[in-house]
Amino acid sequence: MTQKTLLKGRVLAFDGSPFDVDPTEAAKTHETVLVQDGRIAALGPFAELSQTHPDARVTDYGNHLVMAGFVDPHVHYPQTAMIASWGKRLIDWLNSYTFPEEMKFGDPAYAAEIANRYLDLTASHGTTTMCSFCTIHPESVDAFFTAAQARGQRVVAGKTCMDRNAPDGLRDTAQTAYDQSQALLEKWHGVDRLSYAITPRFSPTSTPEQLEAMGALWAEYPHCLMQTHLCEQTDEIEWVRSLFPNARDYLDTYEQFGLLGKNGLYGHVIHLEERERDRLRDVDAALIHCPTSNTFIGSGLFDMEGLMRQGHRVGLATDTGGGSSFSMLRTMAAAYEIGQLRGTPLHPAQLLWLGTVGSARSLRMEDSIGNIAPGMEADLVVLNLASTPDIAQREATANDLWEAVFPTIMMGDDRAVAEVWIGGNRANT
Ligand code: GUN
Ligand code: ZN
Repeated sequence: MTQKTLLKGRVLAFDGSPFDVDPTEAAKTHETVLVQDGRIAALGPFAELSQTHPDARVTDYGNHLVMAGFVDPHVHYPQTAMIASWGKRLIDWLNSYTFPEEMKFGDPAYAAEIANRYLDLTASHGTTTMCSFCTIHPESVDAFFTAAQARGQRVVAGKTCMDRNAPDGLRDTAQTAYDQSQALLEKWHGVDRLSYAITPRFSPTSTPEQLEAMGALWAEYPHCLMQTHLCEQTDEIEWVRSLFPNARDYLDTYEQFGLLGKNGLYGHVIHLEERERDRLRDVDAALIHCPTSNTFIGSGLFDMEGLMRQGHRVGLATDTGGGSSFSMLRTMAAAYEIGQLRGTPLHPAQLLWLGTVGSARSLRMEDSIGNIAPGMEADLVVLNLASTPDIAQREATANDLWEAVFPTIMMGDDRAVAEVWIGGNRANT
């Protein structure tokens, strides 16, 4: 039976990119959105839609903002339990905290517990889709897809491949990485709302043989996404240079092995050389900005303005648990602050766009998720723009929508998330 719901509130939909047009003109608000059979069916005035659909149930969110659920295109769900681990640079942080935790994911029960905990936490923060690294264990991938499938979520994930510079028990080989990734891809890719991403962790933890095997797998399944890390810290780049003395630069360690392409997602990309920027732009790869991680691990300041001007495809991500929050609102605040430190503040419309449309574009899913338009999947977040006394007193004197939204971006958290819809159903948050 057809299920119809009318959601009334301040329904925000982008009809252009706030990086291409005046940010205040890029989005429109509508009074009502009609959700039917898991998809957006229409936008418009309540009087009109309630008359044409008298059988629809009505939920009135008053002054709340109804927008597309947040899309987080670079996370490590297995790092949920060790988020906010103190101190150190990237490589020390990986060895001290990350690898010992990831070691536990050979246990399917532990993997299932953390996958569900992660999806509970992110739903409470309004995130409806994410692209996650798992661990080297196929069990960690099965656990994540199983948990997401039960919730009807659109997610992307892949087995993280590493065959060197990682501890015993956390290494595969070129051949097992290829075989296990292929088996998982065949098992999960395209099932319900699930997609597989080929996932070499980063050049320092893969031998050239493993990178070559991953490149060969991607060539067989070019429609799949491929995710990795690139140019996050200067000392990491020095290490890559010593491990791959013949490579032109860090990107070349991927490019040589067929791991540069349009369905590639490259996390962090802070310290890029000109050739790397140009090549990433040539192939229209996705660059993922992880601002809370880049400040937390002390990696550097992403060049949003310059990369956007060059026409790059950019998404915004938490990088849980290198990032210090599960919240895309906290992540937008950090992106704003990094913009300020570079002298290029981002408009609130640009921040919301990056965390929805921009991130969906990075996953090549902008026709399905990340915005509200007829035919798109009904993944929504409802934000209370006066969720705490400090935010409420600022919002009370706002002169327009963007002044009303910005305090929630800068000071909001899960208390601002009034409701979440996943695939046309209310999610438990
Ligand atoms: N580079 C390689 N692995 C990781 C990781 O788990 N987190 C971050 N932030 N960077 C990485
Ligand atoms: Zn990462």
